[in-house]
Amino acid sequence: MKLITCGLPYANGKAHIGHLRTYVPADVYVRYLRMFGEEVIFVCGSDCHGTPIVINAEKEGLKPKELVDIYHEHFQEVFRKIDVNFDYFGRTDAEYHHERTQEIVKRLLENGYIYPKEIELAYCPNCDRFLPDRYVEGVCPYCGEIARGDECDQGCGRHLEPGEILEPRCKICGAKAIYRKQKHYFFRLTEFKDFLLEFLGKLGGTENALNYAKQWVTMELKDWCITRNLEWGVKFPGEDLVVYVWVDAPIGYISFTEKACEGRIDWRDIWLRNKAEIVHFIGLDIVYHHCIFWPAMLKGSDYSLPNAVVASGMVKVEGKTFSKSRGYVVWVEDDYLASGLNTDFLRYYLVNYTSHQKDLNFSWEVFGDKINNELIANLGNFLYRVTHFAWKNFDGEIQAKVDRNAMNAIQAAIKKIKEALENWEFKVASDAFMELSSFGNNYFQNAKPWDLIKSDRNECEKAVATCLQIAKALVILSYPVLPKTMKKFSGFLGFDVEKATTDDALKIESFKIKKPEIPFTKVLPEKIAELEDTMHKRIAMAEKKEEKEFEETGKETREVKEVVGEIENVKGEVEDVKEKEGEIVMEENPSEISFDEFKKLDLRIGKVVKAEKIEKSKKLLRLEIDIGGEVRQVVAGIAEYYKPEDLIGRLLPILVNMKPAKLMGVESRGMILAADVNGEPVLLYPDKEVKPGTKIR
Ligand code: 2FM
Ligand code: ZN
Repeated sequence: MKLITCGLPYANGKAHIGHLRTYVPADVYVRYLRMFGEEVIFVCGSDCHGTPIVINAEKEGLKPKELVDIYHEHFQEVFRKIDVNFDYFGRTDAEYHHERTQEIVKRLLENGYIYPKEIELAYCPNCDRFLPDRYVEGVCPYCGEIARGDECDQGCGRHLEPGEILEPRCKICGAKAIYRKQKHYFFRLTEFKDFLLEFLGKLGGTENALNYAKQWVTMELKDWCITRNLEWGVKFPGEDLVVYVWVDAPIGYISFTEKACEGRIDWRDIWLRNKAEIVHFIGLDIVYHHCIFWPAMLKGSDYSLPNAVVASGMVKVEGKTFSKSRGYVVWVEDDYLASGLNTDFLRYYLVNYTSHQKDLNFSWEVFGDKINNELIANLGNFLYRVTHFAWKNFDGEIQAKVDRNAMNAIQAAIKKIKEALENWEFKVASDAFMELSSFGNNYFQNAKPWDLIKSDRNECEKAVATCLQIAKALVILSYPVLPKTMKKFSGFLGFDVEKATTDDALKIESFKIKKPEIPFTKVLPEKIAELEDTMHKRIAMAEKKEEKEFEETGKETREVKEVVGEIENVKGEVEDVKEKEGEIVMEENPSEISFDEFKKLDLRIGKVVKAEKIEKSKKLLRLEIDIGGEVRQVVAGIAEYYKPEDLIGRLLPILVNMKPAKLMGVESRGMILAADVNGEPVLLYPDKEVKPGTKIR
């Protein structure tokens, strides 16, 4: 038996394409497993706790539960429409979930893995309250960027422990926060180092997850503060505190399994007696929680451990980093479902675009192209032409006489799918049925049944029977990816694919075909143009909003956004160019660039001729750099580490053709390069004196 889980979406916002990047392949995997005869339980649910939900609810004038109700419904509806079919979709604010969480926390306490400690915490004297996680904003102690209380989301991305953030400010009233002592509880993660090393050595799943996790565990582990000053959440036993959201969220995998198993099997077989294989499907951004923190918690409370962690690569939109605030987002409901397009198209695109571990670059143009020229032109075309021919010329009644080669091709496709699933390669699995479809099209084309029907009806029936057998196999093997379409189409072939197994694809029987309908309708270019237009308008609006905010506040946070934005844009452009050149390489290994791409970077040695601080900015210096016959103004975030006077006359590597950007109102035309030592910039210089403007290659 297998238990498959998906990372719980926060019930705090609408479903977007990034969510589906994990859920659709997981659903496809589950459907394939069942088709291969495995018993599978598939669970997920809403992640209802944590400060983002409390803060958003406050903003909307709602209670946290009211906000959660809205998004819980929303996700359920989206999953229903897109055929992501969980056995149980729970919610972490449910009583049964609180009970399970408290039971596990108590076990960890009994087993000595949780201890109290007095720590200094950000406290707002104005609001008269402690400021957990996102209630506090300040400076990241590691990289100096603006960060939230629990995560340096705009800088180095580190998880921040309560009390770590520097210069804390209250997110609600903006007042300067102070540090105050309070007793909190810590999980002894440090005690699990040896266990984790061994566990990760055996853990299955995708390389991306495992590699990161192995790296982290060899670095220093820290005990985790697992309590928070909040009303909303699972109460920590005996205290006026709740448990950190990342303690209770994964416990949802257990509590939802309990629900899914009701009246079926004993959930303890799965979570306490190791009788099932447990596989977690997650996004790449939450590997740490699933490969380090979660297994340690399970081990410490004597629960079963996961067998595999499968992490999906991140999603980009039109070549740019996925970003809701910058408009690079595709909403499942407002964009895709509202378009009326077949939901199977999106499933196919998400699964077949690239390997599960790689970044997926969403583009409406590529989407339209893949659906029309690949899925419909190949699979749709074959299924319809074969069934239609059989119905028209044989009145739908075909005797079983199947060519051996075709049976071999079907068998090979099944084998390929099985192996692909073992390697978490869902693209390869979907390629397998597309290849079988190409085989079918060739077979039909070569057999020329439209001629045979006139010359040799018997031979013709044999060719058609062979093609129908391939069609039946295709319906079965593509059903996990295309459930709506194939459910309907199996009816034309005279069977119900929902009840079929892969063995049925190899069973030779005579056919009774019903008048078929075309399985797919092409995506019209106007529809693609409309969807692109919506996206471009959204991006433009986000840009305008950002401009406006900047004009109104002139906030320093803008610097960070701009710099990140520029970097993202440059990355996007590099990829756009690659796409134009038709290099699919980008998807295959996004971290590699060609020499031609490298050549686009105008890197030179520059000489600093002037350097000064930028007023009102702690971090920025304005530099004038001689790049060989031209002096460039460059803004660099090094003020905290270098004095302007020490820089005059220094030689530095500089990226000359960086897009100009304005930082604190000062134009920057170029970017100096430095080594990043835990966020501290360390400048580089050439081995011997060279002329300003010397090219770096
Ligand atoms: O990152 C997230 O979206 C979290 N809500 C995922 C939780 S997954 C699990 F641990 F429950
Ligand atoms: Zn940081």
